[in-house]
Amino acid sequence: MKKFSVVIAGGGSTFTPGIVKMLLASSERFPLKKLYLYDNDEERQAVLGEAIEIMLKEDAPEVEFVYTADPEVAFTDMDFCMAHIRVGKYAMRELDEKIPLKHNVVGQETCGAGGMAYGMRSITGMLEIIDYMEKYSPDCWMLNYSNPASIVAEACRVLRPESKVLNICDMPVGTLRRMSQIIGTTPDQLEVDYFGLNHFGWWTSVRGKDGTDYTQLVKDYVKENGYLNQVEIDTQHTDPSWQETHKKARDIYAVDPRFLPNTYLKYYLFPDYVVENSNKEYTRANEVMDGREKDVFETARHIIETGTAKDNGFHIDSHAYFIVDLARAIAFNTHERMLMIVENNGAIANFPDDAMVEVPCIVGSKGPEPICQGQIPMFQQALMHQQLMCEKLLVQGYIEQDYQKVWQAFTLSRTIPSATVAKEVLDDLIIANKNF
Ligand code: NAD
Ligand code: G6P
Ligand code: MN
Repeated sequence: MKKFSVVIAGGGSTFTPGIVKMLLASSERFPLKKLYLYDNDEERQAVLGEAIEIMLKEDAPEVEFVYTADPEVAFTDMDFCMAHIRVGKYAMRELDEKIPLKHNVVGQETCGAGGMAYGMRSITGMLEIIDYMEKYSPDCWMLNYSNPASIVAEACRVLRPESKVLNICDMPVGTLRRMSQIIGTTPDQLEVDYFGLNHFGWWTSVRGKDGTDYTQLVKDYVKENGYLNQVEIDTQHTDPSWQETHKKARDIYAVDPRFLPNTYLKYYLFPDYVVENSNKEYTRANEVMDGREKDVFETARHIIETGTAKDNGFHIDSHAYFIVDLARAIAFNTHERMLMIVENNGAIANFPDDAMVEVPCIVGSKGPEPICQGQIPMFQQALMHQQLMCEKLLVQGYIEQDYQKVWQAFTLSRTIPSATVAKEVLDDLIIANKNF
């Protein structure tokens, strides 16, 4: 069986250990030749790198492991780049969230003003790693989680149209795991229909692979509880703020009970509620810095101190499952059905061809082939159109360095009430991002 070479870009990410653990657990389905980590923050990556080195020596000594900040070393002779960089790291995420909140608008990693600031930082970082990949491994695929995925996807469509970059999101996968628990089955037994933009979509059906339709059953549950589960399967999406988000899906569902909503719609449909219920001094960035980031790095330091990674505390979540399944689908042409962010080209019939949409695709060695989702109703079409134009204008504004377009993009976000507020938030974010 062929063995594959994988580089993880953003090696210092809190999600790196989970993906490595998943790769090791998948060695029979997706055998590894080389596993490299690449990050432009050498010090941060070294902590995880050293711990993972110990893990691999114990569990997979045959895999060639390197962690490096040298792009040539990192990207040479690779089959897959699994990317999850955060340009500006948690310090900037905290500002992305807190600056808009100061102006009483949604402060969120990927949605609204903060998401747009993050988006413009990400485009630069993504272009950098895409160009390294193509220079040193022209046939390599990049499987990209780096957020905001919709803005990154649009920038790739415009600026690197020929590049083998697939943008993905783990939210639908995570929510599908919740749905599978509601149904009393496992996610791999389910198949869905879904349409939307990234962090802006709806399920139209949830079925068993045997054909059983579970959509109504899931709806009946969501109507009362949102996606709040009784028992947690993942460690991801379980902090108090996430529980609140899962629960809030109940109210999003009430707005249009024809479909099952993505949790992220709460920022667009209930921005006033979100702001009222935000702690302006302690946002999700703080929760992660005090939680996941601290835990992952403490675990790594413990492994380094004790010299063993046996029974370590790293977790495999839906995030890691999805990206490894995707690599495998491409590597072995499995034609598995997965949600991907792709150029529309008719998949959503009454939506622009050049929109980057999130729809189910059949994934094989030539990449994703979208499955047609037909016509969508007026309400979703209007919401998505406004959001799409917001993201497209932002990317144009980035490329042309055009303040006016970026201001218009901010004005188009449903999370921002007026052009006046849009300008105030934008101007503050520009100052905070002066190093980028
Ligand atoms: P993190 O800050 O822990 O890790 C990101 C790493 O990227 C850092 O070590 C940083 O030094 C590195 N980095 C920044 N710019 C770089 C560059 N130009 N080149 C190389 N490395 C660079 O962040 P995290 O919380 O682990 O999240 C990582 C990324 O994954 C974020 O973009 C996050 O939004 C994204 N994410 C996406 C999904 C999804 O559904 N698409 C899910 C989870 C996380
Ligand atoms: C979900 C989303 C990701 C996002 C993540 C944030 O998984 O799909 O796009 O990055 O949540 O999680 P966090 O725990 O960092 O707030
Ligand atoms: Mn996502």
